[in-house]
Amino acid sequence: MMNSKQETIVQNTLPLVAENLSKIIDKFYQILLDENPALKNVFNSTNQKTGLQSKSLANAIAVFAMNYNNLNAIQDMIRQIAHKHCSVGVTAEQYTIVGTTLLAAIDNILGDIVTEEIRDAWAAFYWTFADILIKTERELYLNTPTLNKNQFKSFKIVNKIAEAINVFSLYLKPEDGCLYDFKPGQYVSLKVKLGEYEQIRQYSLSDIQNQEYIRITIKREENYDSDSMAVSNYIYDNLAVGDTLDISAPYGTFVLNPSPSNITFISAGVGITPVMSMLKTLMHNQGKQKVNFIYLAENSEHHVFKQELKSIQGLNLNKFIYYRSPLVNDVINQDYNYVNFDFNDLQKYASQDMEYYVCASDSIVNKINATLTSLGIDKNKIHDEIFQPDGWIIN
Ligand SMILES: Cc1cc2nc3c(=O)[nH]c(=O)nc-3n(C[C@H](O)[C@H](O)[C@H](O)COP(=O)(O)OP(=O)(O)OC[C@H]3O[C@@H](n4cnc5c(N)ncnc54)[C@H](O)[C@@H]3O)c2cc1C
Ligand code: HEM
Repeated sequence: MMNSKQETIVQNTLPLVAENLSKIIDKFYQILLDENPALKNVFNSTNQKTGLQSKSLANAIAVFAMNYNNLNAIQDMIRQIAHKHCSVGVTAEQYTIVGTTLLAAIDNILGDIVTEEIRDAWAAFYWTFADILIKTERELYLNTPTLNKNQFKSFKIVNKIAEAINVFSLYLKPEDGCLYDFKPGQYVSLKVKLGEYEQIRQYSLSDIQNQEYIRITIKREENYDSDSMAVSNYIYDNLAVGDTLDISAPYGTFVLNPSPSNITFISAGVGITPVMSMLKTLMHNQGKQKVNFIYLAENSEHHVFKQELKSIQGLNLNKFIYYRSPLVNDVINQDYNYVNFDFNDLQKYASQDMEYYVCASDSIVNKINATLTSLGIDKNKIHDEIFQPDGWIIN
């Protein structure tokens, strides 16, 4: 914990650190991965190259610095980071390496300005944040079933089927016979060895909880770096029924609120995966609430779970399928309902008694959030997932 003198030092030096934060974080990752190459097995190399992980960490630090005296305001961010950490197997011991490296990066970028007193104050700041995450992660690990020491276990692929162009599902059974319980909307991490290092990626569980298998549904990346194979392509090209994959326990905070309020699901492309699990769960539980299901796709060839969606009955459900460019043979009100989604259409679905669950690309999710809040929807009723590290824009 920081003492009051350290708090004052952190607040006084915050503008300087904030101004240089992206340089500090880039230096941090450079030192961390150079000095601890084994961590290349844990960090997503694409998020390193694109800078998305650096941005997410820098923004999380800035948000924490502005809110550590009001932790309630940042509970969602803390839980989300902790869930991601547990899904990749972060340990309490690794916080020491990360803390030492972060301070080394601050020293490196800010130079002589960093006196011993300033360094100690930022070390105390780091450990305030770290202790909260470690405690949250310890509780999460205690509540997950026993895995091997790296928090992964082996699953066998029992089915692999095409769902749409470039999208396929894997049905997976644990080799030890023990399936985990999960909440609809959660994801698992999976690990594959690509070249010298392992790579971890997250995939949402796309089916309802059952006693037989878990299902994940993957979109293959078409354009990927030539020097590093995309995990989705690796799995598509190289793994078949009978092969195994190392998979984490389920994690994630984008989950169906158990309250029986009316619901609007909005998803696009492969973003349908977590909401499909939510929708099937509602059907299974014979939910009585009103459910709107809005889905955006290019056309019928890219419409993920097209047939499965048709089989969902028995709910007070309205489906609104939008195609951006329908094919000549796509039939309106059979394959889809509308051409091209206009964000102003959200007016039709905006209602104070609705909870919203949104999963799509960063830009679509941001526009939906902005439109819904401008229509007076309480932010606490909008839940979203993007398939990349969060940017933590907290208003
Ligand atoms: C919580 C969560 C849930 C998810 N659920 C799903 C799901 O259900 N289904 C699903 O398909 N995906 C899901 N994802 C996304 C998934 O984890 C992977 O990110 C995705 O499959 C891409 O990984 P990849 O290794 O195949 O491609 P990557 O190699 O990671 O490439 C991803 C993208 O980055 C681009 N890229 C690569 N290198 C560079 C570079 N140097 N500069 C700029 N751009 C670059 C690539 O062109 C590509 O478009 C989820 C992600 C999260 C965080
Ligand atoms: C106070 C200390 C830490 C903070 C503030 C922090 C913050 C974050 C944030 C903001 C994310 C992105 C979450 C998201 O995907 O939305 C993240 C992911 C991650 N963190 Fe941490 N972290 C800390 C410590 C650690 C430690 C000790 C490790 C251990 C090596 C670690 C490893 C990872 C990994 C592997 C990811 C996923 C990276 C990716 O998918 O690109 N973090 N962390």
